[in-house]
Order: sequence, then C-alpha cells, then structure tokens
Amino acid sequence: MDPEILNKAENLRQALHRHNYRYYVLDDPEISDAEYDRMMQELVALETAYPELASPDSPSARVGAAPSEKFETAEHSLPMLSLDNGFDDSDILDFDRRIKKNLDTDADILYTAEPKMDGLAVELVYEKGRLITASTRGDGIRGEVITANAKTIRTVPLVLQENKEVKIPAYLEVRGEVFMGLECFRCLNAERLKAGIAPFANPRNAAAGSLRQLDPAVTAKRPLEIFCYGTGRSDISSDSHWETLEILKKLGFRINPLIRARIGIDLCLEYYRELGNRRHTLPYDIDGVVIKIDKYSWQQELGATARSPRWAIAYKFEAIRSSTRIVSIDVQVGRTGALTPVAIMEPVTVGGVTVSRATLHNEDEIRRKDIRIGDTVLIQRAGDVIPEVVKVIVSVRTGQESVFNMPSNCPVCAAAVYRDKDEAVLRCNNSNCPAQIKARLRHFASKAAFDIDGLGEKLADQLVEKGLIASYSDIFHLNNVQLQSLERMGAKSAGNLIAAVEKSKKISFSRFIYALGIRHVGENIADILAGRFESIAQLSDAPIELLETIEGIGPEIAESIRHFFEQDENRKTVRRILESGVEILVKAKQTYASPIQGKVFVLTGTLEGMTRNEAKQIIEDAGGKVSSSVSRNTDYLVAGDDPGSKLERAESLGVQIIDKAEFLELIGNRLP
Ligand code: IVH
Repeated sequence: MDPEILNKAENLRQALHRHNYRYYVLDDPEISDAEYDRMMQELVALETAYPELASPDSPSARVGAAPSEKFETAEHSLPMLSLDNGFDDSDILDFDRRIKKNLDTDADILYTAEPKMDGLAVELVYEKGRLITASTRGDGIRGEVITANAKTIRTVPLVLQENKEVKIPAYLEVRGEVFMGLECFRCLNAERLKAGIAPFANPRNAAAGSLRQLDPAVTAKRPLEIFCYGTGRSDISSDSHWETLEILKKLGFRINPLIRARIGIDLCLEYYRELGNRRHTLPYDIDGVVIKIDKYSWQQELGATARSPRWAIAYKFEAIRSSTRIVSIDVQVGRTGALTPVAIMEPVTVGGVTVSRATLHNEDEIRRKDIRIGDTVLIQRAGDVIPEVVKVIVSVRTGQESVFNMPSNCPVCAAAVYRDKDEAVLRCNNSNCPAQIKARLRHFASKAAFDIDGLGEKLADQLVEKGLIASYSDIFHLNNVQLQSLERMGAKSAGNLIAAVEKSKKISFSRFIYALGIRHVGENIADILAGRFESIAQLSDAPIELLETIEGIGPEIAESIRHFFEQDENRKTVRRILESGVEILVKAKQTYASPIQGKVFVLTGTLEGMTRNEAKQIIEDAGGKVSSSVSRNTDYLVAGDDPGSKLERAESLGVQIIDKAEFLELIGNRLP
C-alpha cells in the first residue's frame, strides 16, 4: 500500500471525525456542508479504489453497511435495567424518604435531574477508543446487535476524542437513548404518506423502526440522534454520575444540556415543574424526568431489584388525554380465561397515536366509572400501555346511552363464566376454549418464550381454527402438508415455519417456564424458578411449602404454580413438548451448601486464563453476586494482575481482598 495514500485516507478520516463532532455534537461547525461533503466523497473514492483501506470505524460507515438477514443478539455484560415510575409528588417524596432511611442520613441528597427521553435505549461498546458493538436494550439481559445501524447516527462517536483531560479508557460501555426529533419525524411521515406508506404513529416508533432496519442504508437516511445518560461496565474512573457525564462529554458523547445537579428532593420537584412547562417547546419528545442519586457509593449501597435500581426514579409527566365516544363494548378472552371488556371507540389521536380501543379492565371498573355504550369519555395513554378510560363526560349524555352487562357465558365457546371470590375478573371455565388456546399459543411462541419466528397472531388463530393445534405442544408435531393447507401458506413459508419451530427447540429453562403460561408467572418469576430448580421435573413436583420459601414467590404465585402442575393435562403437555425433542438448557446449578451463597464480589485487574464474564458466571452459578464497584457491602475483592483503584478503596473499607488462587479455592476450583 502506498504510504502516501494511506496517509491521505487517515488524514481525511481524522478531519471528518472532528468536523462531524463539531457539527452534530457541539452544533458549532468549522467548515461548510459542501466542504464536508467534498471530503467525504474523496474518502469514499479512495476507499473504493483501495479496498484494503477498509476500516469499520471510518466516517464513511455512516452511510450504511450491507443489509443483514436477521439481527444477532448479544448479552449485556451488566443488565440494562428499567426505572421505577412515580406519578405524583408524593411518590417522589416517598422515594427520597426511603433512600434517606436506607442510607441512614437526614441530610439533603445530591441528585441529578434529567429529561426522560422517549426513544429507545442502546448500549455502545468501545474498546481502545473504537466503537465495537452497539445493541438495543432488548429484554434488558440480551439485546439485538445493531452496530452498522448505530454507526449511521452522526452523534454516535465511532472513535473517541483524543483529549488532554481524560485518557481514552481501554474498555467502555455507554448507554443512551436513540430518538428522532419532532421536525424530522413530521418530514418523514409526510414523505411516507406521499409514497402511500403508512405513517409512523409517533417519533418513538419511527426511531425504533429506523434503528431496527435490516438494511443500514435505510437507517442512514433516517435522521436519528442520541443522548447518552450513563455507562455499563467501564474502565472510567469516576465517583459520581455527574463526573461520568462530564468525562463522556469530553470523550465526544452527546449529553443532554438540560441535565442538572440538584441538592434535595424539593429542587428536583421544581425542575420537574419547570421542564413540564417547557416540554412542548423542545424539539424532541420527553415523557418525564429521571431523578438519580449522584454518588456511586450510595448507588451501590442501595442496589437494585431485578427490574430497576433503587437509587433512581422516573417522574412521569401526566399522560396525554383526549375525548371520544364509545361505540360498543367487546369482551376478549385471554390466555387464563379472563374476560376483559374492551371499549371500541371512534378513532381519536392521543399524543400522536390513533387509538380506537381502550381496556375497561373488569365489570367492577365499569360500574365504578358508570361507563355506558354511547358515552363520551376522556381517555388517556401513558407510555406504551393500552389506553384507559379516565372518566365519562356525563354532561354530554343524551339519554340514548345503554348500560353494559358482562355476559354469563363465554362469548367465544359459550361455556359458563365464573368469578372467584377474591377476584374482580370473570373467567371462562373451559380450558379448551379456542380463545384461550389461541392466546396461550401466541404467548408460547412469543419473543420472550419460544421465540418462534413467523408465528404471529393471524397464523396462531388460523392454526387453532383449522383444528391443527389444540394445545401448544402440538406445535412441535406440525408437518408441511398440514401447514400448506392454510391460507396464504406456500411451500416456502411452511418450510420456514418448520425450520423456526425446529430452531426454537433449544431453550433456556427460564424461557421454558415462562412459555407454559402459568398464571402470575411472568419473566421475572420464571427466572427465579429457573435459578432454584434443577429440572422441570423437580419444579413440577415441588410442594407448595417449598415454593413459598423462595424469595420473591408469595403464596398466591406458589398456589398458582402448584395448581398448574396438578392438572394432568398440563403434565401431559409438558411431557409431549419434551418428547418432541425440546432441549432445556439448564445452567450448572449452585449447590445449596455453596460457601459463597449471597456473597458480593467485585473483580479488578486481569485474572489469568479467565475472562471477567467467565469469573462472573462462576460466581453467579455458585449463588454469589458480582458488583461493579466496591462498597461496605462488598464481601470479597478479587484482585488480578494490574488491579485498578478498586484495590485502594477495598483496602480503605477493610474489604477482604483475595487473589486468583484464593478465589479458585473459595469456589471449589471450578474452572469455566
Ligand atoms: S437511566 C438504571 N436516564 O427510560 C437506569 N434512562 O424506563 C436506567 N430513559 O430504558 C436508565 N431517558 O431507555 C435513564 N435520562 C435517562 C433516560 C432514560 C430515557 C429510558 C431508558 C430506560 C427507560 C427506563
């Protein structure tokens, strides 16, 4: 390679990275757009003429790499948690009170208050200053790898800024929210309408749809942006959230300029009100304020539940409301037989989304709010959830409205409905009701369960209606001929579906449990159960007394699990699934006598012959926990070669420090 050409390409790349940052992140360009375009063209021309120049972090990657078939998924090294929500001042004051009590302090807490962006969370991974992967939040544990798409976002640095003040960290995971500005959203929708394509319902859907494009060249044409709001695992040394944001800014990340540090919860509430007033003047959608404890050692001390950290809360803005008329009330039958009344309304837009259905929950709710067919009602939509009827606008009643009564028979199979004494819902008594089978099948095949590609709502309904599926275990016994008898199902789609079913057969224990659709057993509970039992056989025979002793499982859930496995039919279904070749991947289980059960570990430095993730896995398999920073709650600091500042901190706190050999001994010499 001619060194002159190499040099030229490198100079162009560096200049383009810098101009890109000045233009998109700082909003302070040094050169004209035309000049920038000219440099980019020159670089692309060079890279085309000399393919050996190719580099994954070249600024030319912003125009989009080759399309892919399907997204790979990857595990986040630390889970991407969600946030608890508060809806009024008292929720936020409670949060502050709880924190002070747990931290055992009366002093005002230093918080950061930030706009809660209404987009989608992503994680960007940098090694030696270069963007290596980008992934979506996914289920918080695993996300989809969208690196090529993320590279098209101008405010995502491909290489970190060289910088006098901060050293480029060897490893860094940055988290942030990808969103689409309102103006771009409107333009994009106008274009789509012109082209006869359905417009996006709101900027968030537009951002999600654009980021999850299989063809990055399409993403490149969509004007996405990012605001970063934190880190995952990282080598940055910082004691507080604010300090981290400052460092990220210097490394070239775009941080929302409206983020503030606030001492005491009252000033956070003031920030919430100020931002609420300005909200509609911002060029992007926000749906609340995130309040976070600034100091890391306190964050650490408070920890997190499986879902969300205890040191942060989202104070949501009031949901957006509209009024419309109820045309009729439908009754839907769910997976567990629950009958849910749903209002069918004249379509109306609520905060940019057109809605025509709202859940009425149950018959008590209908009575309490005195909702009648023909009523004009106020509806609200908060975030993702199905809209709700807030109240009836009684003043516009005409007298033509009719009172609605729940049916005494299932609207789908006509079986009798019953109501348990402690419950507000009515249920269809027939577990073979087609509506229940359809809903169970949809749940079984859904993303968080068996994740059977192509088995959507329409197909699930058809399979049940045509009598091909009476229980979700039948899914593994479908054949090509049967499938091709369905509407719009050619040989190719039938083959694809069979391949997808085959592929789904290797499944983790927790997904398997979740897929069964046991009442009250969502993803979290399924995870807990998978962590405590060795096999599905052991779980299905677990006595209720044992289930109740598991942390996170109350009597109601325990009873529901017991009830599920007491039904012969359910046991038979589980057996049939296993006989069809489904393989449950059970993690190596902890022995109950594990000496590190419940102990908190922090890792620092390199452990020869073992990656961090492997060490983490071993600890977790043996019932211990791994935390990213040292606090008074830390039981062991495992110090490898070249330990970082964590070693000093552990020494100052008197935390027990062990080396690799001691660690191996502690865990019974179990190598990865
Ligand atoms: S912090 C563990 N900060 O809100 C802390 N999240 O409801 C979790 N979000 O998945 C993230 N703006 O997508 C944080 N300034 C902000 C945010 C923010 C928007 C989103 C993020 C997260 C969701 C949780």
